[in-house]
Amino acid sequence: MIRKYTFGTPFPTDAVVLDLPAETAPLNSMETQTDPEGRLILRLSLSPEEVIFGLGQNVRGIDKRGHRYESWNSDIFNHTEERPSLYGSHNFLVFFRPDRLFGIYLDDPGKIVWDLGCTRYDTAEITVESGSLNLYLLEEDSLTELARAFRSLTGRSYLPPRWAFGYIQSRWGYAGEDEVREVAAEHRKRHIPLDALCLDIDYMDGYRNFTWRKDAFPDLKRFQAAMKEEHLRLVPIIDAGIKVEEGYAPYDSGKARDAFCKKEDGSDFVAAVWPGRCCFPDFLREDVRRWFGSLYTPLLEAGIEGFWNDMNEPALFYTDEGVADAFALADRIRSGSVDYEAAWGLMRAFSGIANNPEDYRRFYHRPDGKPVRHDRVHNLYGAGMTRATSEAFRCFAPDKRMLLFSRSSFIGAHRYGGMWQGDNFSWWSHIKLALQMLPNLNLCGFLYCGCDLGGFGCDTTEDLLERFLQLGVFTPLMRNHSALHTREQEIYRFASWEIMRDTLTVRYALLPWLYSEFMKAALTDGMLFRPLAFDFPQDRRAVHTQDQLMLGDGCMIAPVYEQNAAGRYVYLPEDMLLIRFRFVADYDLVPLEKGDHWIDLALNEFPLFVRKNRAVFLCPGGEYSEELDDSRFTVLGQIETESAYDLYRDDGLTSDPDLAAGLTRISLSPDGKLKREIVL
Ligand code: GLC
Repeated sequence: MIRKYTFGTPFPTDAVVLDLPAETAPLNSMETQTDPEGRLILRLSLSPEEVIFGLGQNVRGIDKRGHRYESWNSDIFNHTEERPSLYGSHNFLVFFRPDRLFGIYLDDPGKIVWDLGCTRYDTAEITVESGSLNLYLLEEDSLTELARAFRSLTGRSYLPPRWAFGYIQSRWGYAGEDEVREVAAEHRKRHIPLDALCLDIDYMDGYRNFTWRKDAFPDLKRFQAAMKEEHLRLVPIIDAGIKVEEGYAPYDSGKARDAFCKKEDGSDFVAAVWPGRCCFPDFLREDVRRWFGSLYTPLLEAGIEGFWNDMNEPALFYTDEGVADAFALADRIRSGSVDYEAAWGLMRAFSGIANNPEDYRRFYHRPDGKPVRHDRVHNLYGAGMTRATSEAFRCFAPDKRMLLFSRSSFIGAHRYGGMWQGDNFSWWSHIKLALQMLPNLNLCGFLYCGCDLGGFGCDTTEDLLERFLQLGVFTPLMRNHSALHTREQEIYRFASWEIMRDTLTVRYALLPWLYSEFMKAALTDGMLFRPLAFDFPQDRRAVHTQDQLMLGDGCMIAPVYEQNAAGRYVYLPEDMLLIRFRFVADYDLVPLEKGDHWIDLALNEFPLFVRKNRAVFLCPGGEYSEELDDSRFTVLGQIETESAYDLYRDDGLTSDPDLAAGLTRISLSPDGKLKREIVL
């Protein structure tokens, strides 16, 4: 059951696909109040047992209770525990306790503050700055049904092509085609599986979108064709800002269409990003989305089948106005007495020059001709860019799925593309953080996601990269990405590269099964990753577990995320089969009983747990996704009663796949074995 309540004059966001009439009766489940500044405040008391899931991309645990979050898409380089927001705003929350279950979705693109038991552990207080929104109240009997109801409200998740489940190598700093070719060759030479290579901003001419450096990447079409011979795809980055420069075609054509966001005086808003001074396409306008989307055409014509969209919060390094304000403060201080408060103010003014909240109040969109100040709609910006790209794909190749993942997002964008989890660090805690984000992203509709494996910022280590990869084996987007000037992070750079390669062989053996699980989840509005509470709602230990996830049909993951750990403790809510992987053809199968277990996991070992009468399918493996044979499997599972598995297969490319046509029912009979071979 979904009910809609309207407050004030909501801004249309495109997030919801169901047309529901607004309720006329008041919302009883929460206390509501408008404060003197016109902000809407929603208040709810929380019982000691209450668990809160949702908010998609955010720091801290799977259960979001006990912190203050903000919906405010931010270019944040440092995902520390106190951060209120990261790159995306996903305003869906589920409140769960033994005697109560409901979800709320706040459809508003402005700032929302979520005090989820932070000020008072027994109270959730949500402040909607604009005072206007559509609030959806969802009530179902189970968490799974609630998640499904939310997807019926907001639409089906984006479907990537199957090759996008292959391993992707990326790095900011590849100097040219020769270096990228060498990276590819090093993988192939050592039989390290690989499906794609990302091109970061280095491929562009002066960081200008939709250009490439002719000296370093002389012919992108020829380069992509050569890579395709090796079964590799190039995935270039595109940023949101368009460099202000007459003679640069995207700027000229944008200017001719008056496509850019404006300042109050009607001139184009300008802020610095990688290429220098940029204008920002007004993605809230349909004509602008069409124009921006059309700029992808030459790259699509060159054979590119995937992109990553970046800097689309939008990230603003500085504006002239912001710099002037900081210098004005410096001048005032210079002419007066300097006390410590002034010194701190000065530090804040300069260190806060990038992504300065003031700058987000300096420009306007014109969605239907009338100006709307950016901060009112801030969280929609990246989603508009994703939509523009996705619609361009549809125009260019209507029948084909393309790869797209974005940094910034908003619910609704989950229909158009996936996302990556942003600029993490080569920190052990970021393995756990990535794990904890996954189920909440899935709950909010984002199924195709993953983190920068190995860590983006600072130098990784061999053991850290290996443990990151062991999580990545299960994430749809499996990309190794690192920042300029950090330690080179390609697998083959490390002495223990063979261990990492072996880990990847498991990913490739699991790929048809993982793809099947993903597609079934996407096409039935389900989740690939779930908090344990979804499958074991009566089990208090399971409900409060913060570092294990259910995956697909009856599996559970529990990666190691601590340095030098010889293994980890795992809680099993029921009897399960432990598969301790080392290599595609080397694993232990250990039936375990419900309860707590210490699992030994040497650096080259990682676990997958399987419920009884469920199974995991391993294909013979391969070095790229197209090489995988999805008709012969080793099936691992403890089958005690007559069971079946529905394997989904398709060509991996068709844009509107038919679930029923893709399914093959495989019966699993109790035969006392943990491992069986099948040929379809
Ligand atoms: C941003 C992106 C990162 C990318 C870098 C350079 O920080 O989040 O992934 O490598 O920009 O383009």
